[in-house]
Amino acid sequence: LSPQGNKLWGGRFVGDTDPIMEKFNASVAYDQRMWDADIRGSKAYVRALEKARLVSTDEMDQILHGMDQISEEWSKGAFVIKPGDEDIHTANERRLKELVGAPAGKLHTGRSRNDQVVTDMRLWLRDAISTLAGNALQLISTMVERAAAEIDVLVPGYTHMQRAQPIRWSHWILSHAVALSRDVERLQEIKKRVNVLALGRYAYSCSYSIQLDRLIQRHNHLNRSLMSLNSMDATGQRDFVAEFLFWASLCLTHLSKMAEDLMLYSTKEFSFITLSDAYSTGSSLMPQKKNADSLELIRSKAGRVFGRCAGFMMTLKGLPSTYNKDLQEDKEAMFDCYDTINAVLQVSTGVMSTLQINQSVMEAALSPDMLATDLAYYLVRKGMPFREAHGVSGKAVFMAESKNIPLNQLTLEDLTTLSPLFGGDVASVWDYRSSVEQYSAPGGTAKNSVTAQVEHLRVWLKKQAQ
Ligand SMILES: *[C@@H]1O[C@H](CO)[C@@H](O)[C@H](O)[C@H]1NC(C)=O
Ligand SMILES: *[C@@H]1O[C@H](CO)[C@@H](O)[C@H](O)[C@H]1NC(C)=O
Ligand SMILES: *[C@@H]1O[C@H](CO)[C@@H](O)[C@H](O)[C@H]1NC(C)=O
Repeated sequence: LSPQGNKLWGGRFVGDTDPIMEKFNASVAYDQRMWDADIRGSKAYVRALEKARLVSTDEMDQILHGMDQISEEWSKGAFVIKPGDEDIHTANERRLKELVGAPAGKLHTGRSRNDQVVTDMRLWLRDAISTLAGNALQLISTMVERAAAEIDVLVPGYTHMQRAQPIRWSHWILSHAVALSRDVERLQEIKKRVNVLALGRYAYSCSYSIQLDRLIQRHNHLNRSLMSLNSMDATGQRDFVAEFLFWASLCLTHLSKMAEDLMLYSTKEFSFITLSDAYSTGSSLMPQKKNADSLELIRSKAGRVFGRCAGFMMTLKGLPSTYNKDLQEDKEAMFDCYDTINAVLQVSTGVMSTLQINQSVMEAALSPDMLATDLAYYLVRKGMPFREAHGVSGKAVFMAESKNIPLNQLTLEDLTTLSPLFGGDVASVWDYRSSVEQYSAPGGTAKNSVTAQVEHLRVWLKKQAQ
């Protein structure tokens, strides 16, 4: 056998690593964005090591100083990644060794890369969640203020994409704002579970770790993190990543639905709204067209992010206990979902704050047939059971269609052939503004109900800002 041939099926770990394998294995290309979290985690850890007398005060000071220097290099874009820096932890530790020498080696006492990577991700995601919550709140606030300003505008409300009943335009806006407010609450909920400390908990906890946990907690350098209860769980689980990916999927699902409505409303057929030029594009071929690119992109990102979520769940399924290299898939999924939803939230705010509505077109789209339910309620108020009233109203719609006239053009004589309960006051039914005002129960589309929703969300927003 030739030596090469032999290597094909020959000895394990013989010779140099395959360069493709090295690249395949390395995560530094994407995990370097956690450099700051990695440094903060190491600084907190070395302080705990000093308290546990595992490093001297002098060694701690050298390490802290070295870490600050590395931090500065990263901030200035001067940090050089070298071959052999497989991930952000090895890169920072290699640099620390260059800067401070031997004490650098002590930083790894009682800590493994497996718990370090989880700690970095948790610290990074904790900050990322704060940014996302801030951007989501900005979007909600924009929507709430728009709803308050445009509360007098009526528009058709649709179900099954068919004209259903007149509603306030603000009622539509707030329906989406309310869904987003639940997303913010869910995000804060996840933050509690992201904020768990895994440092010093390598897969099989050693005696140092218990001591270190308490010290890290007491000295609080990781800012009110909870301690993880079980070391194998701490290094082997990525629930917090999966939850975040699901959160992003759900939030983007909400935004994709809102984008879809807006896109329809911006078509020539509806002409309810006009997107600002900043968020739309002219067609390269057909000069009359203005494409709602921003909304289409928002709609599309839901698929991308859900794909990340489903893909990562499949990676987790059936993994053996504790750390497996498969878990390295967590980072690209987390970063990509973060970048995507962070952009979507900001673009959505831009779209919502700049689009223009056309009140006369919106209100001209209302038609008397949308008041058929109101006609039924008229009879209910006169004592007819709703089921029966619904039937009579249906017959009135049929009669108007047969006569080829709008519903409100039926004469009183026409209507009294359907029910003797109709009187001259039926004329009051044919008014869109009084129609929406009937729905004054909480959550309704009457002015007082919509105002109450605005007020509720304003109070809620203030509470979130605290
Ligand atoms: C793969 O990366 C890990 C660090 O995540 C490192 O310990 C290991 O040596 C690398 N293996 C190869 C074959 O490059
Ligand atoms: C904890 O909070 C302080 C003050 O806000 C900050 O300087 C420090 O970097 C934080 N530590 C971590 C590990 O995030
Ligand atoms: C609303 O649409 C109508 C009909 O297309 C148009 O005449 C009017 O100028 C528009 N109003 C605004 C404010 O764009």
